[in-house]
Amino acid sequence: MAKGIVIYYSRSGNTKEMAEIIAKAMNEAGLPTDCKAVNKVKAEDLLGYDAVAVGSPTYYGHMAGPIKQLFDDSVTFHGRLDGKVGAAFSSAANIGGGNETTIMGIIEAMLIAGMVIQGDPQGDHYGPVSIGKPDERVRKQCQRRGQRIAELTRKLLS
Ligand SMILES: Cc1cc2nc3c(=O)[nH]c(=O)nc-3n(C[C@H](O)[C@H](O)[C@H](O)COP(=O)(O)O)c2cc1C
Repeated sequence: MAKGIVIYYSRSGNTKEMAEIIAKAMNEAGLPTDCKAVNKVKAEDLLGYDAVAVGSPTYYGHMAGPIKQLFDDSVTFHGRLDGKVGAAFSSAANIGGGNETTIMGIIEAMLIAGMVIQGDPQGDHYGPVSIGKPDERVRKQCQRRGQRIAELTRKLLS
């Protein structure tokens, strides 16, 4: 049976809150999904999932170090994430503070790994973004993204 995971790094809880909403939506959409802090995940664990969503706070316009380390560690099995569904999300302090470049950095790593990324023509196009603590708008975007990840995974595996 297909499985998903949402992995996050979060110091002050904003990205963690987004991760939990996305994972809940994936579960409710029928894709059994774990939600874990990046320090509880080994790169090899990714091999056991069909969909992987990764969230990071925006740090100087990029993903936080522990998230980058996860991707770097995956080099030992490079090529084996090919065809899995990927998604990214980020929390930053400011509008224009680098949220989307952070998401694109995560997506770039996923594309290099061969993962399948779906944009969103109506919602947050690259992935959910939050300015500080998630508000109602962000919560809706996270729910929407979680549903879309589950739907795409189902389509790819059928
Ligand atoms: C080292 C560091 C770098 C940061 N760089 C940025 C930045 O470039 N742009 C921005 O808007 N916020 C920046 N922030 C703020 C965080 O992205 C923001 O507080 C985020 O919501 C924290 O997420 P968290 O609660 O999941 O830890 C930075 C924070 C830290 C600690």
